[in-house]
Amino acid sequence: MSELNSKVDVSIAGTGSYVPERVLTNDELASMVDTSNEWILTRTGIRERHIAAEGEYTSHMASHAARRALEQAGMQASEIELIIVATITPDTPTPATACHVQQQIGANRAVAFDISAACSGFLYAMKIAKRLISDGAFQNALIIGAEKLSTVTNWQDRTTCVLFGDGAGAAVLRRSQPGEGAIVATEMGTDGNLTHLLEIAGGGSACPITAANVHENLATLSMQGKEVFKHAVTRMKEAAEKVIERAGWKPEEIACVIPHQANLRIIDAIADRLAVPNDRVFVNLDKYGNTSAAAVAIALDEANRKGAFHRGDRIVLVVFGAGLTWAAAAIRW
Ligand code: ACO
Repeated sequence: MSELNSKVDVSIAGTGSYVPERVLTNDELASMVDTSNEWILTRTGIRERHIAAEGEYTSHMASHAARRALEQAGMQASEIELIIVATITPDTPTPATACHVQQQIGANRAVAFDISAACSGFLYAMKIAKRLISDGAFQNALIIGAEKLSTVTNWQDRTTCVLFGDGAGAAVLRRSQPGEGAIVATEMGTDGNLTHLLEIAGGGSACPITAANVHENLATLSMQGKEVFKHAVTRMKEAAEKVIERAGWKPEEIACVIPHQANLRIIDAIADRLAVPNDRVFVNLDKYGNTSAAAVAIALDEANRKGAFHRGDRIVLVVFGAGLTWAAAAIRW
């Protein structure tokens, strides 16, 4: 799905993120399953991840990130008109986690709903919010990627449990004000033929968790890692190229690429194929692992606060996840 030109520019006015306090290191994982720090580090680039406390829900992490984004934007929660939370680990199947966030931060005027697009969710939310703002339906929006993946991780499966972590990232979008940048181009894609490569098979209407199957680990993530890896490289490269071309940019003009944080080898492969130098590609998966919808949002916030790009710079976000889904955005900061 491609971007059509719209007259009203939409900018990112503020970003925020949050990760829980508890750090789970590779060495600790090695005492839980048959793995090692060396295997995890060389195959993925991950050193540690953060794990939410028992009473800490996805909405709580989302609300922390949201408050930080609002603060940076210089806006009150009461001004927000739309909240979209991208998550595959909502507090409850219904109501939406976005409704809890609305209540927790006091965004009483906001329309609030969730979307489910796995690791691609934050950029799906960005596209939806951008369009709703540029169409005039809303003045602004709070978009959030938030996950408590520790609740859908099979802690006995070494092929997946070393990969994931918990956290949240948020951004405030609004009609561009003088001197602000714009979301210049976006791209989204889905291939529903490949749903089986990465899924949580149970817990939905297809396979409810019952007393009979409760021990089968059906409500946890399973993945055919090698296959997912190949598709991730191809789809992210294509999506990034499309938004760069649509924006009319050259790769050497891009100040920062912020990819989905799943595997350093995937990120390196994409940087090579896009001909963007590695030092312009933002990586923080060593600290957080793969936090699905939160990953690119946390990375955007960290890159922003670290000064990895400045007002007027050209940046590209690109993601990939279960579905299979993928998306990219070209942003003039
Ligand atoms: N520790 C030690 N050995 C392990 C571990 C582990 N944690 N996990 C797997 N192995 C073993 C395997 O059993 C296999 O052993 P064998 O050769 O004796 O059979 C060997 O290591 C190699 O396993 P592979 O699966 O081939 O390893 P690979 O190099 O492909 O790395 C990984 C696996 C990290 C999962 C990689 O395939 C990957 O990152 N895939 C993409 C993940 C991704 O991008 N997901 C995106 C979206 S996630 C979302 O939407 C929620």
